[in-house]
Amino acid sequence: MIEITRLVKILYGGGHKVEILKSLNLTVPTGQFIAITGQSGSGKTTLLSLIAGLDTPTSGQIMIDEENITELDEDELAVLRGKRFGFIFQSFHLIPTLTALENVVLAAELNNTPGANKKANDLLGTVGLGDRLHHYPSQLSGGEQQRLSLARAFINEPDIILADEPTGNLDSNNSDNIIELILELHRVKRATIILVTHEHHVAERSQRILTLGDGKIISDQVNR
Ligand SMILES: Nc1ncnc2c1ncn2[C@@H]1O[C@H](COP(=O)(O)OP(=O)(O)O)[C@@H](O)[C@H]1O
Ligand SMILES: [Mg+2]
Repeated sequence: MIEITRLVKILYGGGHKVEILKSLNLTVPTGQFIAITGQSGSGKTTLLSLIAGLDTPTSGQIMIDEENITELDEDELAVLRGKRFGFIFQSFHLIPTLTALENVVLAAELNNTPGANKKANDLLGTVGLGDRLHHYPSQLSGGEQQRLSLARAFINEPDIILADEPTGNLDSNNSDNIIELILELHRVKRATIILVTHEHHVAERSQRILTLGDGKIISDQVNR
C-alpha cells in the first residue's frame, strides 16, 4: 500500500515561489491500477518522481508498505527502486547501443534477477517482440520501443509500476496496444500501477481516476 500524507512540493525559481503540490493526501491499495490525470503543469510528473524517490518533497510523508521513503538516503532509494519499481516513460529511455534483448537483460542483471536471459526472452515474446530480439532501438518503431520499455519495466517483477504518459508519443493504434498490454500485465503480475496521462480514454481503462489541479486532488473516482 502507498500512503501519501500532506505532501508539499514548493520550488523557488527566478525569485518566484511555485507551489506545485499543496498538502496532497492519497492512499493507493496494493494491486490497484490508478490513473492520474490533469492539465499540463498540474504536478503529475512531480508526484510520480516523489513516489519514486527521484525527487524530495518540501514536506510530507510517503509510506510504501510501512517504510517512509522520504527518510531514505540515495543508496537505500536506489535499492528500493531496483527491487520494487518499474518505470515507463513517454520517451522510452532505452540504451541505443544495446539490442532489445540486451536492454531488458541489463535491467535484470543490475538487479541480480536470476535467469535474466530466459526471462527477458519470455517477456519480449509477451509484448510481441519475439522476432525483434536482436534489433537496436533505432531499428524499432515508436510502438515497438514502448513495448520494449514495458518488458524492461516488468522484468524484475516490480510491485509498483510508475508510468509517465507512456502513450504520449504513440498514434492511437499503438496507444491502445500499450494500454492493453499494461492491463494484461496488471492482471497477470498483480502489480500496483500508477499511470500518468492527460488522455481521458487512457485514464478510463484504469480502476480509479485521480485528477490533479492547483496542486491538489480535485477529483478521485472509482472507475466502474
Ligand atoms: N525544475 C523546475 N523548476 C521550476 N518549475 C518547475 C520545475 N519542474 C516543474 N516545474 C513546474 O511545476 C509545475 C508542475 O510540473 P509537472 O509536474 O511537470 O506537471 P505535469 O507533469 O502535470 O505537466 C509546472 O508548472 C512546471 O512548470
Ligand atoms: Mg508531466
